[in-house]
Amino acid sequence: MSGGITLAYLAAAVLFIFSLGGLSQQETARRGNVYGIIGMTIALVATLFAPGSVSPIWAFLAVGAGGAVGWTLAQRVAMTEMPQLVAGMHSFVGLAAVLVGLGTYWAGGDHEGTEAIVHDLEIAADVIIGAITFTGSVVAWAKLDGRLSGKPMLLPGRHMMNAVAALLLLLMAVIVTMVGPTLGLTMLVLAAAVAGALGAHLVLAIGGADMPVVVSLLNSYSGWTAAAAGFMLGNDLLIITGALVGSSGAILSYIMCEAMNRSIWNVVFGGFGTEAPKTAAAPPPATDGASEVQSIEGEGFVELLLNAKSVLVVPGYGLAVARAQNDVKTLTDLLRARGADVRFAIHPVAGRLPGHMNVLLAEAGVGYDLVHELEDINDDFPDADLALVVGANDIVNPGAQTDTSSPIYGMPVLEAWKATTCVVMKRSMNVGYAGVGNPLFFKDNTRMLFGDAGDRLGEAVSLLRAQ
Ligand code: TAP
Repeated sequence: MSGGITLAYLAAAVLFIFSLGGLSQQETARRGNVYGIIGMTIALVATLFAPGSVSPIWAFLAVGAGGAVGWTLAQRVAMTEMPQLVAGMHSFVGLAAVLVGLGTYWAGGDHEGTEAIVHDLEIAADVIIGAITFTGSVVAWAKLDGRLSGKPMLLPGRHMMNAVAALLLLLMAVIVTMVGPTLGLTMLVLAAAVAGALGAHLVLAIGGADMPVVVSLLNSYSGWTAAAAGFMLGNDLLIITGALVGSSGAILSYIMCEAMNRSIWNVVFGGFGTEAPKTAAAPPPATDGASEVQSIEGEGFVELLLNAKSVLVVPGYGLAVARAQNDVKTLTDLLRARGADVRFAIHPVAGRLPGHMNVLLAEAGVGYDLVHELEDINDDFPDADLALVVGANDIVNPGAQTDTSSPIYGMPVLEAWKATTCVVMKRSMNVGYAGVGNPLFFKDNTRMLFGDAGDRLGEAVSLLRAQ
C-alpha cells in the first residue's frame, strides 16, 4: 500500500474516532456526523486510487446504485420504522461479506503455505460471521416489521444445536485450509449455509422485547464482519472501522441490556434461560385506592398546567407515533414564558431505538439543557407539581419495581407517580411494547387524558393561548 493511501486511511480512521466521540453527546452529534462524512469521503477516494483497486467506472456504478437505494429507503422510512431499516442495512453488510469472501477465495489462486492457511482462515471467518449477521438481521427485520411473530421460537435442545453448529463451523474452517480450491469453495458455501441457519435460529429464539438489543448486537456483528474482511483483504482501514463498529455496538448492547434489565447472555445465546413471555393484556387491579381510572379533558388539563410551577415531561413511543414533538415544544415554550420550570425526562429505551426521543426533541428545537437522562432527573419527580407522560407506558410502569412476576421487573423506570399530579396522554387503556398492564393509570394522583397526543397537545396550546 503506497504511503499516500496509508496516510489517507489513517486520517479517515482518526476522523471516525472523532465522529464516534461527537455522536456520544447531543450537543456535539452534528459535528460528529460531519467528521464521519469527511472521513468516509477520504476513505472512498483513497480506495478508488489505491493500487489494484477496481476500475473507477465499476466503483462509481456500485456506489451510485447503492447510494440511490439507500437514499430512497431513508427518504421513505418513517421514524417509527427505523429499527427495521437498521436491521435491513446490517443484513446487507453480512451478505456483502459472504460474497466478497467467496469471491476472494475463488480468485485467490495458491492455497498452500503458512500465509495461505492464515488467509484461508480469515476468509472462513469473514464468510461465517457474515452469514450469521445476514440471516440474523433478516429475521430481526421480519420480526420488527411484523412479518414474523415476535414470540421466541424455543426449539427443544436448541442450545445443543447451536453448540453443534458452532463446532461444525470450526471444523469446516479448518478443512478449508487443508484442501484444494474446489473442495475448499464447496466447504465455504456449506459453512455459509450452516452459519446462516445458526444466525436465523439464534434470533428466532429471542422475544420481541429483546429485539432492540438484538439490532444493536447485529450492528456489532456487522462491525466484526467488516474487521474480518479487512484482514482478508489486507485493508487496514476496514480492520479499524470494523473494530470501532464492533466494539461500539457491543458497548451499546451492554448499556441497553442494563437499561432494560436483560441479560446480555440471553441475547447473545438466543434465549438462554428465556421463558415464553407472559402477556398481561388486561390492566392490573387497583392497588392503592382508586378502583377506576380518572380521566380529564382539555380544560382540566390546562388548569393543571397553569397551576404547575414545575413540570416534568416524559415522552414515549406514542410521541413518535403522534409526531407530536413540535406540539410539545410549543407547549413547553408557552409554559416557560409563564415562568414554569419545564424539563424532559428521558428513559434510555423510550421509543423504539436508542436516542429516539432525543432525536425527536432535537428535531423540534427543544434546548439540550431541558433534556435530562433518567439517572439525572428521577429524584426530581417528588418535587414536581406535574408529571406529563406523553405516549409513554412501560418506561413509567411502577410494576417494574414491585411486581416480581412482571417481564419488566427490575427495569429502571421514571417515577412519574411521585409528582403531585401525573397526567398520562394516550389513546386507550392498551398495553405498551412489553404487553403488561400499568398500575400508574390507577393511582389516586393520576389523570388520564385520552386521545392522540398531537391532538390533545394542540388543543391545550390553543386553550393556553386563549388565556
Ligand atoms: P410503550 O411502552 O410502547 O408505550 C407507548 C404508548 O404510546 C402505548 O401504550 C400507546 O397507548 C401510546 N400511543 C401510541 N400512539 C399514540 C398516539 N398517537 N397518541 C398518544 N399515545 C399513543 O412505549 P415506551 O413507554 O416509550 O417504552 C418503550 C418500550 O419499547 C419499552 O418496553 C422498551 O423496552 C421497548 N423498546 C425500546 C427500544 C429502544 S432501544 N428505545 C426499541 C424497541 C423496543 P395507546 O395505544 O393506548 O395510545
